[in-house]
Amino acid sequence: MIIAVDGPAASGKGTVARALARHFGLPHLDTGLLYRAVAHHVRRLDLDPAKEADAVAACDFDDRTLADPALRDDAVGQLASIVSAHPLVRAALFQRQKRFANQPGGAVLDGRDIGTVIAPDADVKLFVKANAAVRARRRHTELAERGQSLTYEQVLADIRARDARDSARATAPLTQAADAASLDTSNLTVEAAIARAIALVEGRVRGRTAGA
Ligand code: CDP
Repeated sequence: MIIAVDGPAASGKGTVARALARHFGLPHLDTGLLYRAVAHHVRRLDLDPAKEADAVAACDFDDRTLADPALRDDAVGQLASIVSAHPLVRAALFQRQKRFANQPGGAVLDGRDIGTVIAPDADVKLFVKANAAVRARRRHTELAERGQSLTYEQVLADIRARDARDSARATAPLTQAADAASLDTSNLTVEAAIARAIALVEGRVRGRTAGA
């Protein structure tokens, strides 16, 4: 079973995807980390994230980078949304995600374009969202716990800028697939969001079996 989880920054998609992977015993890929790794590499090599050739040159990052906590920095997230708008960067990371999705037994992937581009035939697609103020509050707390002292207003502005960039880009923009179920986590606890996600997946699977 392939489960595609998409949504904007700090919507709760990562938490939901990890929990679904655990619940259904599937491997999980946080695809945002791949774009964050490219962004991090661009910065280390002192390249220009706005230049497609520079961003492409940073796509051969060392896989050990994926475990680096620095990838979670707010600035890396912003840079990731700049490098991820380049079609050639997306192309460079495409096969790796596709292979992960199509491994025997299935997988859970979370990102922006999983249900639309990477796994358009996924068995279940979820689009996780939450209002911008809630997302900024969550991300602000997360960053503070990691010792990053940004104000709430800065985090909100960054989230809005990233939403705009991710939604407006020409290639694989952030958008809900027509056949994705929505999960609004604005007023849900983590436990409630996970329970709702599991119920949505089970409902879709039952629906498919009944329809087959
Ligand atoms: O964790 P958060 O939602 O803040 O971001 P992320 O999932 O780590 O993604 C960082 C950035 O990578 C996003 O703002 C997108 O620009 C880009 N991204 C993408 O374009 N496509 C994906 N499948 C995943 C992330």
